[in-house]
Amino acid sequence: MQRNKISVIGAGNVGASVAQALAVEKLGDIFLFDVVDGIPEGKALDIQEGAPHWGFDLQIKGFTTTNPKVYENLKGSDVVVITAGLARKPGMSRDDLLAKNVEILSSVSKSIKDYCPDARIVVVTNTADVMAYAVQKVTGIKPERIIGLGGSLDSSRFRTFLSMELGVSVKDINAFVIGGHGDDMVPFIRYSSAGGIPIERLLSKEKIDAIVKRTRFGGGEIVDLLKSGSAYYAPAISITAMVRSILHDEKRIIPSAAYLTGKHAEYYGASGIFIGLPIKIGSNGVEEIYDIDFKPDELELWKKTVASVKSGCAKVDEFLKGAR
Ligand code: LAC
Repeated sequence: MQRNKISVIGAGNVGASVAQALAVEKLGDIFLFDVVDGIPEGKALDIQEGAPHWGFDLQIKGFTTTNPKVYENLKGSDVVVITAGLARKPGMSRDDLLAKNVEILSSVSKSIKDYCPDARIVVVTNTADVMAYAVQKVTGIKPERIIGLGGSLDSSRFRTFLSMELGVSVKDINAFVIGGHGDDMVPFIRYSSAGGIPIERLLSKEKIDAIVKRTRFGGGEIVDLLKSGSAYYAPAISITAMVRSILHDEKRIIPSAAYLTGKHAEYYGASGIFIGLPIKIGSNGVEEIYDIDFKPDELELWKKTVASVKSGCAKVDEFLKGAR
């Protein structure tokens, strides 16, 4: 049986942590790419040298992309995880990063199109929903093969905070976050439960509001604490769960940014953008988008996050037009 191949573009904290998590889970050979000379090779070798303890028989290889020819090594990738881009600094919003990261992703996406157009692509670079849109625009790859990180991580934070507040196992917390991976993301309270019991029966409105707020600013909380760079441990495992569901065709429902078109676009009042929703992830990428119902106040929150993502996508359009 041929092993799966996963390429990770960007060997910073997130990329390297993902590479390690994927290796530890024995999900496939891992090819790590970065523009900083020696970093991808060094980190790949470092992960490889832990193999005897972790017990994985995989190839972990690194490639410096100052010579773009090395992107040939993307050939045969089943999944490509794109983490390349600038990280947030304190006080910097996710949108501040947009223009720079679109530029970086445009060049990376072209290589993906050239060498592994059939790969499933997980976009992590911020703002991931908008960047997923950029990758799709630049490559023309089928949108259902592209998934943006967001809900997987935001829901992980939301579930963690709920479990901490309730003092119950995270395993019993079922909760998700929809919308963009920005400050107006929507932790979806009404569908959240602990052991099947709606959280609104278990926690006061004040407590829930505080958890919602903490979830929304979850990325910023880590940025403020670290003072340089942003989160990477929770992002890495959130990405790994998505990759695992693709490679093992688990068909897990993991909230993530998917492309809205057809009846879903009509239902959600947003067409041609990537935005976080509960989706089924399998070997084909996005295999199903679920239409959840909204109460009037939830609909307002949804419209607001849609507007933010749309404005990000419009900025991408402008940027790509200028770049042509
Ligand atoms: C965060 C970054 C990945 O939410 O956006 O930590």
